[in-house]
Amino acid sequence: MAEVVIVGSPEDAGTLVAAEIVRLVGRDPQAVLGLATGSTPLPVYRALRKQAAGVDLSGVRGFALDEYVGIAPEHPESYASVIRREVVEPLGLDPELVHVPDGDPERIAVSGGEYERAIEAAGGVDLQILGIGTDGHLGFNEPGSSFASRTRVKTLTAQTRRDNARFFPSLDDVPRHCITQGLGTILRARHLVLLAFGAGKAAAVAGAVEGPLTASLPASAIQLHPHATVVVDEEAASQLRMAEYYRYAWENKPAGQGL
Ligand code: GLP
Repeated sequence: MAEVVIVGSPEDAGTLVAAEIVRLVGRDPQAVLGLATGSTPLPVYRALRKQAAGVDLSGVRGFALDEYVGIAPEHPESYASVIRREVVEPLGLDPELVHVPDGDPERIAVSGGEYERAIEAAGGVDLQILGIGTDGHLGFNEPGSSFASRTRVKTLTAQTRRDNARFFPSLDDVPRHCITQGLGTILRARHLVLLAFGAGKAAAVAGAVEGPLTASLPASAIQLHPHATVVVDEEAASQLRMAEYYRYAWENKPAGQGL
């Protein structure tokens, strides 16, 4: 079962996860981070910026989860731009070491395989940061995605396009396709850290952590992972049946174990 940590605020979540990343980079300055986009991981990146002052992150390698298909990497809302703006630049990562799937429509037949090989060549992802869609998607693995899937093209659901329309001038501007690490790719990371905040994520979180293992709720795939941590605020935790147990387990966790 995933370890569930219920925190007071997104800032607290950011502090906790950033500390884990600092520990990881302390052990391995060339650690491989799996980077997520969306608003959820931002407190982690902000906290990391503070906590990593004085820590050399220039050897850290990164792989983004996903990218839109059909908008140029220079587009301000491409995940290549978002990762550069929100992660690489503020943290002083080496842009050459941070990869985003290639969403060029001309190359999507081959770019998924290339991305998989690049992750393998890096020795795999050490710590994968994850958000969750309101429909339970991970990366852009929409409901129905195979647990064995690898990086490939997917069609976005109407709900995801509506959810993400806030980043674009209008709904019509939201791409219809994406390239995303598969659930099988994500499950190969050594540590999964899924974050979720707000009541809008409560049903998806409860399904992912306590619901049946089902491709209809892609994030339930985390139940297959031997080291998955779910960090949620009170609102996102509000539909968890075993919340009291998670609090008890966290409060009584042996010191010094990290996440
Ligand atoms: C997008 C991303 C996901 C992210 C999700 C939730 O669909 N591809 O990786 O988890 O949005 O976004 P937010 O964190 O803004 O709620």
